[in-house]
Amino acid sequence: MFFKISACTLLVISALALFTSTTPVDAHSWAACIDWRFKHGKEAWGDDDGECMGFARRFPLGKGFASLDHANPGRHYQQDGDHAPACSDGEHGKDVGSNETRADPPEKAYGGKYGAMTVTSVGKKLCVRWPAKNHAEENESDKLMVLINLAKEGGKDPSQDVLTDSLVVGIPYKNCDKGPVPDERPCGGCFTVPSRAPGIYTLQWRWMLNKGEWYTSCADIKIEA
Ligand SMILES: *[C@@H]1O[C@H](CO)[C@@H](O)[C@H](O)[C@H]1NC(C)=O
Ligand SMILES: *[C@@H]1O[C@H](CO)[C@@H](O)[C@H](O)[C@H]1NC(C)=O
Repeated sequence: MFFKISACTLLVISALALFTSTTPVDAHSWAACIDWRFKHGKEAWGDDDGECMGFARRFPLGKGFASLDHANPGRHYQQDGDHAPACSDGEHGKDVGSNETRADPPEKAYGGKYGAMTVTSVGKKLCVRWPAKNHAEENESDKLMVLINLAKEGGKDPSQDVLTDSLVVGIPYKNCDKGPVPDERPCGGCFTVPSRAPGIYTLQWRWMLNKGEWYTSCADIKIEA
């Protein structure tokens, strides 16, 4: 009896410890939307402020904003070194994310239980959205940037080097609105689609928390003539 109680108590304590240690600390964000359209004319990032018209690859629909670190598999991917896959392959990484490898054809990663693919054209505005995941705090550097890289390479994802050389814009990570809790503060930023020949490109959302500690999300965007 005594043993049963203490074993049970231990289990509860360790479950709580696991929950508190993994939930806020291990989540370092991902792109929740690639084509966020504002509903009320002003730039704002909360659930009621807009609608998502284009998503990252195999992005599951119907889950709460900021909730995908609890999903299985988790959404956030931390690259393991300079030559890591640009997009999670679901197998590698310091944190292994969901499989965000380019599908063949790319359209297969969209529709049904997944969000739609982004369709746009040169000169249009795209706005991306992400959850703060306990970052973007006042005491964190204002220089933390989300980098948007955009490149295309035959039927596969470009390497990280190619994407790094194809930087479109840096958006301050701390560009966030108020949220119910720091984990769920909605953040985002916009950019103009640069001049590119029509086609389907890999858009990489990438940010560095500490030196060399990179997190990425990938999406296909179709640039029409
Ligand atoms: C990830 O997706 C790619 C593209 O659809 C596929 O070829 C690969 O087998 C998948 N990997 C895993 C681990 O499921
Ligand atoms: C910012 O403050 C939080 C909470 O006190 C702390 O955990 C974190 O390490 C601090 N970050 C920096 C960059 O100082």
